Amino acid sequence: MKADYLIANGRVITTRGSSSHPQTGPAFGIIEELAPGYVLTQGKHIVKVTASLAEARELCGPNTQELDATGMLVMPGYVDCHTHLSFAGWRDSELGMRLSGVPYLKILAAGGGIISSVMKTRAAAQDELFQFVIEGLDTMLTHGTTTVEAKSGYGLTTDDEVKQLRVLKTADEHHPVDIIRTFMGAHALPPEYTNSRADYVRLIIDEMLPEVARLGLAEFCDCFCEDKAFSLAEGRAILNAARGLGLELKIHADEITPLGGAGLAAELNAVSAEHLIYTDRADLKRMAEANVAAVLLPATAFILRVEKKPLVKDMIELGLTIAVSSDYNPGTSPIPNMQLVQAFACYHYGLTPAQAFAASTINAAHAIKRSMVCGSLEVGKIADIILLKAPSLDFVAYHLGTNLVRTVIKAGQIVVEEGVRCNG
Ligand code: NIG
Ligand code: FE
Repeated sequence: MKADYLIANGRVITTRGSSSHPQTGPAFGIIEELAPGYVLTQGKHIVKVTASLAEARELCGPNTQELDATGMLVMPGYVDCHTHLSFAGWRDSELGMRLSGVPYLKILAAGGGIISSVMKTRAAAQDELFQFVIEGLDTMLTHGTTTVEAKSGYGLTTDDEVKQLRVLKTADEHHPVDIIRTFMGAHALPPEYTNSRADYVRLIIDEMLPEVARLGLAEFCDCFCEDKAFSLAEGRAILNAARGLGLELKIHADEITPLGGAGLAAELNAVSAEHLIYTDRADLKRMAEANVAAVLLPATAFILRVEKKPLVKDMIELGLTIAVSSDYNPGTSPIPNMQLVQAFACYHYGLTPAQAFAASTINAAHAIKRSMVCGSLEVGKIADIILLKAPSLDFVAYHLGTNLVRTVIKAGQIVVEEGVRCNG
């Protein structure tokens, strides 16, 4: 069987080693470059990655289309492993307040923040929400993201959470970007439960989770363990119930205060813990022992203007899987561009461009249990390939804010050409 596409003459960048495994410890950010390199696809899959033109030609037939990638980086599509894609309405109206120094949690406690997005998301019809999600996905795709994790959490009633997850399911069926769904009813306390928080936790456990599980709408359950959101005890109860229904676990941990969510993630053997700005070394060690991935969200930290940095060097030394993601959401990261997030990971959190690359491809795939199918250019994986007009990974981080993606191939199909969305 001959190849459908030969991507020729580019600088092919991928992670080295057994690419189904995340890169950790001293191996974190070890990149393989083939320059020039050749990638061949057939159907939905990668069938060859080589530095030999002769080897590449062996797989070419009369119908093989050649894409000339001279002067381009050829990389796996970005995996954005933590987003809140399914919301209606931006919160630009809160920017002035935020810039003048009103704290994020104070705005939330006053009924703004997440709650103001909840009101708009509840009011949105399913079709409207769908259109909004598709627009977000198009922007992500033209910036090189080919797989995305997306959470509910702007509904906070059973019907509205189901509505959000249904929209994500339909979007996954209609849009090239693959969407991994996460239920996050424990995102904020809805105003109707201000004086009865235990009842809301019961609603999540007794009604929302069983309904989401019955409908097969989510693979993961996440919880915002934070002051003014959910306590460790509440998180533990919710996540244990989710586990009982077959869902995998994630936790928003130690983002704004050192509450101990990372320790809870270790205790519960969660797949990942996210943010981790205030997590201490002892909890990171527990995460490493429990094999919990560390998902860093440097764009959010920049937007919240948090001076404190996560203990990235300790994370590497302890052998944690470090992933980087956009946290795309209307409050703390209206950023769908993983090239920019990579730059923030370098400038703000001190990762090298190669580490930021590994963190937003193979390690991010690991953080959503997809490292067997995507996150690296490897024979047998899905052909999710992006071409950037850039000579090196350093150039991508250096040119922060610019979209360098010219071509996107998703599952073997060209879906972005000359930087513009096309097909499917
Ligand atoms: O990861 N922290 C909770 N969730 C998001 C913010 C959501 C919002 O502000 O709308 C986060 O930062
Ligand atoms: Fe988040």
